[in-house]
Amino acid sequence: MPEGCEPPRHVAIIMDGNGRWAKKRFLPRVAGHKRGLDAVREVVKACKEMGVGYLTLFAFSTENWRRPQEEVSFLMDLFLRALEHEVSKLHNNNIRLKVLGSRERFSADLSERIDRAEAKTAGNDGLVLTIAADYGGRWDIVHAVNQLIAEGQSAITESMVTERLGMAWAPEPDLFIRTGGEQRISNFLLWQLAYSELYFTDLLWPDFDKAALQEAIHSYWQRERRFGRTSEQLPEHLRRDKL
Ligand code: IPE
Ligand code: IPE
Ligand code: MG
Repeated sequence: MPEGCEPPRHVAIIMDGNGRWAKKRFLPRVAGHKRGLDAVREVVKACKEMGVGYLTLFAFSTENWRRPQEEVSFLMDLFLRALEHEVSKLHNNNIRLKVLGSRERFSADLSERIDRAEAKTAGNDGLVLTIAADYGGRWDIVHAVNQLIAEGQSAITESMVTERLGMAWAPEPDLFIRTGGEQRISNFLLWQLAYSELYFTDLLWPDFDKAALQEAIHSYWQRERRFGRTSEQLPEHLRRDKL
């Protein structure tokens, strides 16, 4: 690790490009989703090894319900199977699993699995792995605001909204990664990405691996995070002194 460089505390990833990965191989789109799960395993392991504290993966957006019904069913089923097969492994690796999103449209079976997986891993203090599923940044903000209304609040501050977001327990992402070549946020963590470093790669999600993650983190280490201040105001170890 270069001197003065810490691993990002929180990495948030839009795992995009599964469909194109499959199409390139003349396979059905869902084959790409299956391979995407292999990439998830590898990236979780790499984050743990590199000392990342929080890894948040965007798996299914509130807009993804618009996809063909067979694809949606396949994704729901893949999620369910992954919970069945992977949670013990996560638990044995001291990983805490959280699921972020609405859950209203999930089957009772899936909802129960999620609750059980979260409960089982709740006491772990290693990597926190959050799967954003049926998640949308706008949903998250509106949900927080509705909570404030229900509490009878009238004057609302930023911290009051922040505290009521679905992932209020985590620090904001330091590094945002999107695979698959598109350079957009697609309604991911709208509020929390305000000061994240953004990294885009053309690699399709099933091809994203430890080396690709390391490359993203190297890019992150080149960034000077000023949060509105000037470079000169920063402590020496945070300056990147670019001309
Ligand atoms: C991302 O891959 C996975 C989900 C949105 C569930 P895509 O399925 O969006 O893959 P592309 O973008 O069509 O290649
Ligand atoms: C974003 O990918 C959502 C997830 C990866 C879960 P999409 O493939 O759905 O995004 P758009 O539609 O291209 O913006
Ligand atoms: Mg896509």
